[in-house]
Amino acid sequence: MKKFSYTDMLAYLGISSAHPGGLMLSKSILENEKINQKSNILDIGCGTGQTSAYLASKYNCTVTALDCHSTMIKKAKKRFVRENLKVKLINGTAEELPFKEEAFDYIIAESVIAFTDLNLSLPNIFTVLKREGQFISIELVAEDMLKREEKEEIKNLYGLKNILLENEWKKQLTNQRFSTVVIEKDNNQNGYNIAAEKHDPSDHIYPELFQIFEAHAKLLQKYKGRLGYRIFRCTK
Ligand SMILES: C[S@@+](CC[C@H](N)C(=O)[O-])C[C@H]1O[C@@H](n2cnc3c(N)ncnc32)[C@H](O)[C@@H]1O
Repeated sequence: MKKFSYTDMLAYLGISSAHPGGLMLSKSILENEKINQKSNILDIGCGTGQTSAYLASKYNCTVTALDCHSTMIKKAKKRFVRENLKVKLINGTAEELPFKEEAFDYIIAESVIAFTDLNLSLPNIFTVLKREGQFISIELVAEDMLKREEKEEIKNLYGLKNILLENEWKKQLTNQRFSTVVIEKDNNQNGYNIAAEKHDPSDHIYPELFQIFEAHAKLLQKYKGRLGYRIFRCTK
């Protein structure tokens, strides 16, 4: 039997803005930035491309959307065509970003970096970001120390490589030589509600994918108050 991952579930169901806070949080984060037509923005782990599409249509700026999941790429492409948006779409990984040094004014990663190998993704992000550029990331955080078996349970369900406390994220980011790392808590924390947005489901959805969705809902309930998220704004 084929084993599906949490990301497969998001991809097959075609979930838009599959990050805590959803598109509403993305919009409020981006509102505070000086994005304009000349901005060159990279959206790492773009998923089905909702934030990339929003950036391209609102600011008419240059957007590159990158993801390593072929179904996500397919659905992001469909979205950009449907909305008639010029977004460069790349099938690639955060660990091996195929761009020249100091290429981007902004790099966005919404619920992505925790899935990556931080020893590779963070230095890569730092390299392709322009001087004084901003790296903005929304990441899952453990609100208190989790036991090893609790971490394993969460990592196994989501396919995460890292579950860090806020100060562990801060350490990882400051180790990258970012000049400032500002951490914000979303005051409207609406939890991890991936069901809140419009979907673009595939023609055939395997029953196992619904089981993963249910397991996700149960896990959120089990760890209520112990898992949260933060917004990290890092300036190079
Ligand atoms: C939770 S989803 C978030 C998707 C999107 N940012 C959004 O908010 O809708 C995580 C995304 O990161 C992508 N991803 C995971 N590991 C990655 C990696 N190492 N490099 C690039 N993308 C990755 C997955 O394929 C998936 O689309």
